[in-house]
Amino acid sequence: MKKDIAIAIDGPAAAGKSTVAKKVAKHLGYVYIDTGAMYRSLTLKALEKQIDVQDESKLVKLLIDTEIQFSHHGDQQIVLLDEKNVTNDIRSQAVTNNVSDVSKHEGVRTEMVKRQQEMAQSRRVVMDGRDIGTHVIPDAEVKVFLVASVEERAMRRHKENEEKGFSSDFEQLKKEIEKRDQIDSERAASPLVKADDAVEIDTTSYSIDEVTNQILTLVENQMEN
Ligand code: CDP
Ligand code: CDP
Repeated sequence: MKKDIAIAIDGPAAAGKSTVAKKVAKHLGYVYIDTGAMYRSLTLKALEKQIDVQDESKLVKLLIDTEIQFSHHGDQQIVLLDEKNVTNDIRSQAVTNNVSDVSKHEGVRTEMVKRQQEMAQSRRVVMDGRDIGTHVIPDAEVKVFLVASVEERAMRRHKENEEKGFSSDFEQLKKEIEKRDQIDSERAASPLVKADDAVEIDTTSYSIDEVTNQILTLVENQMEN
């Protein structure tokens, strides 16, 4: 019998983590967990309550009183913040511009990691984020670190916006991605960094299916060992 494993996918913004993680999870019949959606949900609530994103103790208090859950409708993952569907709201520009500040606080991360570890307890998960292989599931059987040039990543987000009918400025997107990468990589608490034992895949010139298949090959090897 194939053994149950945990799969950690990390990397910077728009490297293709969530798209590929969802496909891998679907193929295996595993649960996909988008940890970025959890940090985005807390950020949305903090902005609504006008809490200063630099105020760690207020953010931690807020998080303790906050329920963040995932539910599934077919292929779509729904994010519930205190039982309200915020799947679209957490992708707003305001949330994107503030989420890295909310996520840099150690107290916020400790509580989030605790919740994420509970979700991953039974294995059979594909979890994506920034610190999954280093802090959330350090013993994950498969760890992948996805990267791509910043131009390619900004272009992907630009195309995505255009397809959704939103106005989109490539240069602005590039600046936002660079700023978020910088805060995520330079923070003291569990920064964005490749785990020593993660396999790095540069997706700049690969299609979604090519990256998915590379990860599935790593998974097959682990499951048979
Ligand atoms: O999808 P995108 O790359 O835009 O970002 P995301 O995965 O939704 O994550 C949004 C932000 O949450 C990141 O820029 C990080 O600041 C934070 N984050 C984190 O600190 N740790 C994680 N495990 C996941 C996200
Ligand atoms: O989760 P993360 O922020 O790392 O990226 P994503 O939201 O999965 O991917 C960003 C965009 O890049 C999506 O529109 C994907 O369809 C696209 N993408 C791509 O064009 N080629 C890849 N190899 C992976 C993703």
